[in-house]
Amino acid sequence: MRADLVIKLGGSAITQKDTPYSPNLAVIDRIADEFSSSWRAGRVLLVHGGGSFGHRAAIKYVDGGSKLFSPRGIAETRHAMHRLTSILAESFLEKGVPFFAIDPSACFFYEEADSKPSLGYSLRPVELALSAGLLPSLGGDVVLSSQGHGRILSGDTIARILALASSARLLAFGTDVDGYLEGGKHLGKIGRGELKEIIAAAKGRSNDVTGGMAGKLSEVGEYLSSGGERALIFNATRPGIVARLLRGEEVEGTYID
Ligand SMILES: Nc1ncnc2c1ncn2[C@@H]1O[C@H](COP(=O)(O)OP(=O)(O)OP(=O)(O)O)[C@@H](O)[C@H]1O
Ligand SMILES: [Mg+2]
Repeated sequence: MRADLVIKLGGSAITQKDTPYSPNLAVIDRIADEFSSSWRAGRVLLVHGGGSFGHRAAIKYVDGGSKLFSPRGIAETRHAMHRLTSILAESFLEKGVPFFAIDPSACFFYEEADSKPSLGYSLRPVELALSAGLLPSLGGDVVLSSQGHGRILSGDTIARILALASSARLLAFGTDVDGYLEGGKHLGKIGRGELKEIIAAAKGRSNDVTGGMAGKLSEVGEYLSSGGERALIFNATRPGIVARLLRGEEVEGTYID
């Protein structure tokens, strides 16, 4: 599978994270517009976060880490993500973009012997969607484990896996901030050698079940050390950036390579 760009639309941008189950419709519609003008089939993979949908449902049921033991909790979290996914789908389809939702819980799973979970997956459906001229889209999700429980699989992790599997040129994380902030200003660039120290500083400021900014930077670290080329944290609430990314242009944000 080959793609140029993996874009993750963060829940911080496409929802109001502090208000349960509230999409940020103005941002979603504008991003859908930008896809409509600048997207070309076959080269882009889309991922979205949980925001005030997935995180809100999951937080009631997670065991303190990322496991969910209650069947009802697993099903509710799944459904909360479906709701957000359909809001996105409606907006993109209205603008003529063939948004094609793929359930991560149907292509990812955890095989667990003792306490070590190993993530298994088949990305063939994603590959086939790309070749069919669709815009494949996967949301953060709860996926099932061989031990009979559920586990949160963050959109950030899915984005990292898709970017590696498709040898993407860029793994771009859209959030509600202009990049990685230090003293109120965003850094234009972080070298991979500096990441460890920055992650340690960002830890403890997480406001969600997948580690917030520190979790995201850890995914970036894993991505780069597994052969990934370049990552970006950008502000998806600012008009025009998604369109420019889709056209392969440089944008404002924090590039990490
Ligand atoms: N040093 C930092 N620089 C930038 N943002 C930071 C920093 N430390 C903490 N943050 C917080 O991280 C948030 C982005 O991470 P968060 O996980 O909340 O968003 P997201 O990944 O877009 O949402 P979701 O997980 O729902 O997809 C920002 O809104 C900001 O409040
Ligand atoms: Mg997050």
